Amino acid sequence: MLTGGGDCPGLNAVIRAIVRKGVPEYDYDFVGFRDGWRGPLEGLTMTLDIPAVRGILPRGGTILGSSRTNPFSVDGGVERIRRTLKNLGVHALVVIGGEDTLGVATKLHELGVHVVGVPKTIDNDLSGTDYTFGFDTAVGIATEAIDRLHTTAESHHRVLIVEVMGRHAGWIALHSGLAGGANVILIPEIPFDIDKVCAWVESRFRTQYAPIIVVAEGAAPKDSTMELATAEKDAFGHVRLGGIGESIAREIEQRTGKEARTTVLGHVQRGGTPSARDRWLATRFGLHAIDAVRDEAWGQMVALRGTNIVRVPLSEATDTLKTVDPALYAEAEVFFG
Ligand code: F6P
Repeated sequence: MLTGGGDCPGLNAVIRAIVRKGVPEYDYDFVGFRDGWRGPLEGLTMTLDIPAVRGILPRGGTILGSSRTNPFSVDGGVERIRRTLKNLGVHALVVIGGEDTLGVATKLHELGVHVVGVPKTIDNDLSGTDYTFGFDTAVGIATEAIDRLHTTAESHHRVLIVEVMGRHAGWIALHSGLAGGANVILIPEIPFDIDKVCAWVESRFRTQYAPIIVVAEGAAPKDSTMELATAEKDAFGHVRLGGIGESIAREIEQRTGKEARTTVLGHVQRGGTPSARDRWLATRFGLHAIDAVRDEAWGQMVALRGTNIVRVPLSEATDTLKTVDPALYAEAEVFFG
């Protein structure tokens, strides 16, 4: 198995569940590939037996390591992966990843490699599954930060802006903003009007409370007048996001005269121990992924539907991003201002 892309809490719970079921029930041997797709590309492996997965359930990150390596942008990448799998006698690859890592798995499946996918990402933006693990932990961390920012914002009569992750989806912002009682939530799916944001800020001050704005890193203004992102891109062509919170703070100060500060939560949202819900979901995904291997359900991904774990084609999960429905966002608007 391998873990690729941005790490997230719960990866080790998946690895543990796969090994703990696969060894005694199906008599499988496992090999762990290190650092995402770099592992099978370069033959970087580690032993994955029951002693190797003891004690890792509550541990954040991934014992296998991760990277954003894209084998399709490396010369002869696919052939190198095939060769590694053949040399090691690997019958099936369990790929634990998000949009990019599972996108590679989808293409490899089409080329005849035996793959099964497990959806992970704090962004919760994978189609085909109601939730990904890692998301609940990230929302919990962001909500705790918002709770803390309320009291200091009020003491200093400041606007406090919290920039959260999520790439091109506003799930973390929407969930943590609702849970934390934010006065404004800005998400990539709905371009915002900075005049309206300033009006909400002013109305909040009129009620003697200080405004908290939760902004997703991928949010953008309606007229694209503010700086949005750096030009830096990763191996999958994604722009490195960040900085929208600072731009909004500057605009608010200029337009309203109120002091505005930004807190960028950054990788804190991805680090540390998984929440109980993420451990539960990741463990169940692992148990069902190894069943999918036993059933030779190649090209399938385990997914959560309601409280059931089902299988969906990998292509369904990676074709389109799962973004926030405007109707869900509209529910939160009652609390704005
Ligand atoms: O996809 C997970 C994520 O944390 C996004 O929310 C964020 O935009 C990105 O990864 C950051 O990636 P990196 O850690 O490579 O900068």
